[in-house]
Amino acid sequence: MAENREFVWRKLHSLLGVIPVGLFLAQHLVINHFATSGAESFNKAAGFMEQLPFRIFLEVFVIYLPLLFHAIYGLYIAFTAKNNVSQYTYFRNWMFMLQRYSGVITLVFVAWHVWETRIAAAFGAEVNFNMMAEILSSPFMVVFYAVGIISAVFHFANGLWSFFVSWGITVTPRSQLISTYVTIGVFLVLSVVGIRALVAFI
Ligand code: HEM
Repeated sequence: MAENREFVWRKLHSLLGVIPVGLFLAQHLVINHFATSGAESFNKAAGFMEQLPFRIFLEVFVIYLPLLFHAIYGLYIAFTAKNNVSQYTYFRNWMFMLQRYSGVITLVFVAWHVWETRIAAAFGAEVNFNMMAEILSSPFMVVFYAVGIISAVFHFANGLWSFFVSWGITVTPRSQLISTYVTIGVFLVLSVVGIRALVAFI
């Protein structure tokens, strides 16, 4: 019975990592990328997202609650799970370990990022191009954001690989190899999108 419950929690954790949290991450980076076309372009794209109907409802149920569950249960997994799965290759064992480290780094980054943007906004600050430019006027913050973005993107892309395995989508060694290349592609594309946006604010 307890095992069944654990299985359901694991499946929910896995699903939420992709839908909606992973999709939100990709969408968020694409919106930020509008910064590469200038301040006005970014403010327009971000403003569109802010004016969506039922915004608070969407934020709570599509972003915060799924992310909170994934993060809290993720910490539990990261600190309790065994770090070696003998049927996988050396490379996959490394990825398995990096998945846990990147989850913890992403948690620190996302908590700080939400604090200085969304929570600051709730206290009256205006979240726009200038706000991000000001935050990123500190070289320390540029490095912190770059590490946070790369960590989140790695965690998502590498997580997609294990998501496909755990949902029975990639079963054979060949399909898992193809999936490795596809998810490396996802990592590279989203990293470029995320870092280009970051540089645009500097
Ligand atoms: C940007 C936010 C995040 C995204 C997009 C994301 C996405 C994912 C995805 C897609 C998976 C793969 C699920 C599977 O194996 O089936 C995963 C796994 C995992 N995530 Fe996250 N995650 C995020 C944040 C976090 C945070 C903050 C933590 C906290 C430590 C965390 C911890 C974990 C752990 C430990 C796993 C491995 C689960 C396992 O091996 O069964 N994640 N994540």
